[in-house]
Amino acid sequence: MAPPRHATALVLRPRLQDPAECLRPTRAEVDLGAVAANFAVVARAAAPARVVAIVKADGYGHGVVPVARRLEDIGGDALHGFGVALAEEALELRAAGIRRAILVLNGAYGGAYADVLAAGLTPVIYDRGHLEGFRRAAGGRPFSVHLKVDTGMSRLGVPQDELEGFLDALQRTPGARIEGLMTHLMAADSDDALTAEQLQRFTRVQHALRARGHRPRLLHAANSAATFRHPSARYDLVRPGIALFGHAGAPDVGAPLRPALRLRSEIVALRNLRPGDRVGYDGTFTVRRPTRLATLPIGYGDGLLRAASNRASVLVRGRRCAVVGRVSMDLTTVDVTDVPGVAVGDEACLLGSQDGPDGTRESIGMVELAEASGTAPYEVLCAISRRVPRFYR
Ligand SMILES: Cc1ncc(COP(=O)(O)O)c(C=O)c1O
Repeated sequence: MAPPRHATALVLRPRLQDPAECLRPTRAEVDLGAVAANFAVVARAAAPARVVAIVKADGYGHGVVPVARRLEDIGGDALHGFGVALAEEALELRAAGIRRAILVLNGAYGGAYADVLAAGLTPVIYDRGHLEGFRRAAGGRPFSVHLKVDTGMSRLGVPQDELEGFLDALQRTPGARIEGLMTHLMAADSDDALTAEQLQRFTRVQHALRARGHRPRLLHAANSAATFRHPSARYDLVRPGIALFGHAGAPDVGAPLRPALRLRSEIVALRNLRPGDRVGYDGTFTVRRPTRLATLPIGYGDGLLRAASNRASVLVRGRRCAVVGRVSMDLTTVDVTDVPGVAVGDEACLLGSQDGPDGTRESIGMVELAEASGTAPYEVLCAISRRVPRFYR
């Protein structure tokens, strides 16, 4: 028997093909063609370095499996593989049939060393415990890792003053092969002096490794911003994430990237308010003029951050409308007074472009929404929750 038409939506399946399968008008539309085009832009900027496509946090909210499948299809020689934060994320990609190299960036293996090796993942290590864990799991067979060193960000990676001790431990670990050496840049978008300092430290680490007979084949340091802004950081591999999804990671880079995600909802209620009426929890917005107010079924439970209350804009019939009152968990209210003919069922676009009735196109970019939400484009994308079905073009 065929399942009822909306069965998939009732269990909140996050990935659907056809909007007709979905009860909710709140949806994210992901343009995989834009992801592919952005990959080409990044790969061209990086060449001859190859690309490790960073697709952690569910592909920055775009849905990691469809994104990785498309990149694996079109990536050719320019694509070395993928980077994720967690072993779980890497295993999800392998289960979906992704075959290229997958770097596990955060080294949070939780003891699953054998699973990581069995799935053919590439561990990033920065701790002697990792060395020992993989040595045991490898059972005498050689195993390859990428060594992460801290060159100034003070977050993850072998600290400079512990490097020699780490290399001693490495010497005592038969089978361990340093295939890659990596670091992470803390201000590739904004502080060139700091970046130069980090790269100098990275060079010194390379010398220290060489002095001990290690010759890592793959050096890498560059995120999206560094890929575009710092040619000397490109080495053998670059690790762009946000650029694949349409933002260069730095202002004024001039790369022709296209946003890959559009977030939309629909008006479910309209009401007329009088001056003095108040809107939403705590009545943070007081109406000053006769107002037509629209309610949208999207809230912070979907990833529209509460900080966007009284600050963000939404497009309705191609016009910018202000979010008024607090964003609540499931609902958001918008002033649509200036939208002629506004009606229940009209589309409301929170991120992306919308055409107006006169053929003009308005857009809300991720930088705009991020600024209105007091955060960065990264958080705006990652915040879009599982409750928002993703559709793929
Ligand atoms: C180690 C590492 N490399 C690369 C990236 C990709 O950064 P971006 O999205 O700015 O390109 C990240 C993201 O945070 C990261 O943690």
